[in-house]
Amino acid sequence: MTKRTIWLHPEGSAVQIVDQRSLPHELSIATLRTSDEAAAAISEMWVRGAPLIGATAAYGFWLGTLEALGQKDSKAWLEACAARLLATRPTAVNLQWAISQQMDICRELAFEPKACQQACLANAQAIVEEDVAHCKAIGGHGLALIEAIYRKTGKAVQILTHCNAGRMACIEWGTATSPIYQAHAAGIPVHVWVDETRPRNQGARITAWELAEAGIPHTVIADNTGGHLMQHGMVDICLVGSDRTTALGDVANKIGTYLKALAAHDNDVPFYVALPSSSIDFSLQDGLKEIPIEKRGAGELSHIQGWSEEHAEILSVRLTPEHSPAVNYGFDVTPARLVTGLITERGICRAEREAIREMFPDLSAGA
Ligand code: MRU
Repeated sequence: MTKRTIWLHPEGSAVQIVDQRSLPHELSIATLRTSDEAAAAISEMWVRGAPLIGATAAYGFWLGTLEALGQKDSKAWLEACAARLLATRPTAVNLQWAISQQMDICRELAFEPKACQQACLANAQAIVEEDVAHCKAIGGHGLALIEAIYRKTGKAVQILTHCNAGRMACIEWGTATSPIYQAHAAGIPVHVWVDETRPRNQGARITAWELAEAGIPHTVIADNTGGHLMQHGMVDICLVGSDRTTALGDVANKIGTYLKALAAHDNDVPFYVALPSSSIDFSLQDGLKEIPIEKRGAGELSHIQGWSEEHAEILSVRLTPEHSPAVNYGFDVTPARLVTGLITERGICRAEREAIREMFPDLSAGA
């Protein structure tokens, strides 16, 4: 088990990551030595999850500053490097957030490669440490919600989560899973319903693996099961993450999140979104109109990957008829009106402009 999802290679000029494509069957570590390798790791989802995408982009840009040393025009090189990283995945705002920090640093240093190298490495490391601290704080605030439910019912708190907003999506702790870890550690009985999260099955593969390694009771369910559970009083609270939340509180998260929010609304189940401020896009208002939604290859739908017990290896098999087209939207937007609250590193607030502004007056200034 690795404690973190990304770290500096001991030799000092590369980064190491957990290659999440083979989880939970194999835990494999990959080394990223160039900015192009970092970009490929993000777009091909060796790493994934909004905060980890941001951290990988920050490190990837730093690798670009190492490459800039051999270039005639370091400014042009770094601008192109930023553009390549920004083009990898469109929805998680943490990517832009991290790259714009790195570019601002380089601009201040007039793109002088040596100075940029040092400052961008320090900033990538600061992004990583900040994410750990923010996710831990989110857990503390979310714990109070779980504790309140337990005090009321006296029974194991039934939590439904979608996709993977766990430690593998961040650096440590996760966002939606951080309150769950902290409740478990505090002796509050919890049970997690884990949406499988087609087509890439981040819930079934990764969230279930994380919860199992922490010894937290959980059950994997097919994506379409949540509504039924909520109708039968089997879910106390939904906890999900976010790839981009607007200044008005509209939440983009993994495709299918919206349907869970609708079912939660219809059944009076509280629906909370756990997110660090790096996932809030203070420049956007209407999530439905303004958040770019990633469309990925149809191959992720037409084929499915799993562990062959016969061959002891990961195999991919076809699921759909050969000539049936498939479309693969990666995210959807849950309107703020369906969100009970946002659990941030500074506390819990309503998913509304004024409440978000009050929580983050420094970050929302001018937005
Ligand atoms: O496509 P992915 O696996 O990167 O999508 C991940 C999610 O949708 C997570 O819920 C989101 O990034 C929040 S992570 C704390």
